[in-house]
Amino acid sequence: MPPITTIDDLKTIYKRRVPTMFYDYAESGSWSEQTFRENVSDFEKIRLRQKVAVDMTNRSTATTMVGQDVAMPVALAPVGLTGMQHPDGEIKAARAAEKFGVPFTLSTMSICSIEDVAAHTTKPFWFQLYVMKDRDFIERLIDRAKAAGCSALVLTFDLQILGQRHKDIKNGLSAPPKLTIRNMIDIAQRQRWAWGMLGTKRHSFGNIVGHAKGVGDLSSLSSWTAEQFDPALNWDDIAWIKERWGGPLILKGILDVDDARRSVDSGADALIVSNHGGRQLDGALSSIRMLPDIVDAVGKDIEIHMDSGIRSGQDVLKAVALGAKSTYIGRSFIYGLGAMGEKGVTAALNVIHKELDTTMALCGERLITNMSRDNLLIPKGFRDEFTD
Ligand SMILES: Cc1cc2nc3c(=O)[nH]c(=O)nc-3n(C[C@H](O)[C@H](O)[C@H](O)COP(=O)(O)O)c2cc1C
Repeated sequence: MPPITTIDDLKTIYKRRVPTMFYDYAESGSWSEQTFRENVSDFEKIRLRQKVAVDMTNRSTATTMVGQDVAMPVALAPVGLTGMQHPDGEIKAARAAEKFGVPFTLSTMSICSIEDVAAHTTKPFWFQLYVMKDRDFIERLIDRAKAAGCSALVLTFDLQILGQRHKDIKNGLSAPPKLTIRNMIDIAQRQRWAWGMLGTKRHSFGNIVGHAKGVGDLSSLSSWTAEQFDPALNWDDIAWIKERWGGPLILKGILDVDDARRSVDSGADALIVSNHGGRQLDGALSSIRMLPDIVDAVGKDIEIHMDSGIRSGQDVLKAVALGAKSTYIGRSFIYGLGAMGEKGVTAALNVIHKELDTTMALCGERLITNMSRDNLLIPKGFRDEFTD
């Protein structure tokens, strides 16, 4: 196999190795996919200012996220069904993140449960919460994350109802996949995946099955999820979640300056400028385009993170230079996981770190924490092309 030098290299292998249903699940946005595409293409519009003859010894990409040390300003984003991309996927990704020194965020909709990931890792990971109508279940979920030693809670605020991805409907997405003729032909061509899945017992939503009322088996799960996401979730809910949790709270899915101000008022420790990787409101602006306005409005009052569209270390650097304290990668680590399991996630992190470190040096900086808008060349109208 040729050496892996880009995130795209991992994506090519990922596409070959993982059933189409799960590849499509990750590699899609909602409706026309405009926001999904622009998350990536808007990063390309920002250029870098080259600076030479600066002492580049003793460089460091280390920083902190909600007070916790990280080896670079990157965390693994919560991704549902990660354990369908690769057998025991959440455990593998969490281990890679732990070894690298960056946070892993476990999704509510994971295949491996909170307790399972905790039993197979040695350092605290983060937990992402979807709020559902069954509040007893949600309270117990928060308690379980606490008991497992999770060191931050990421509350996702942009998914009370689900954005539509056409391919998921057409593919009949489910976990585990239904054994239709079409799926069986597809899986037969991905034997490494199939044998791996046969070798693990983790095939269903580990945080939910056996923990939520009325969900004892798989057959009732899909209807349960469709019915259970709480469309009534609102800013007032943050208070009880914050109190129950009692640790660092990060609000995910903020894409608007007014919402960013409300996040500050809510007492959250950080917010994530995010459009859910283009999977929710199609037609929303890219996260990187919205980031500067949000930084200018509330950057002094709350820690700002961002995600959506990061496919390289250069993208991470651009987000940090625009004022994000740190970033998250979703698909970039999923490509690695689907391609090569834990090794693939490590490869993704290595690619991003190398690109970040080299770019930082060629921009004439030794510390990631020193990056600022002065390091960037931003096209005219990047922020103002779309007015309110
Ligand atoms: C396949 C997939 C599943 C996701 N599942 C969740 C989830 O369960 N909870 C959540 O808060 N965000 C979820 N997200 C959104 C990610 O956390 C993150 O915001 C997004 O992937 C960032 O964009 P990127 O993939 O371009 O890096 C998911 C994203 C993808 C691609």
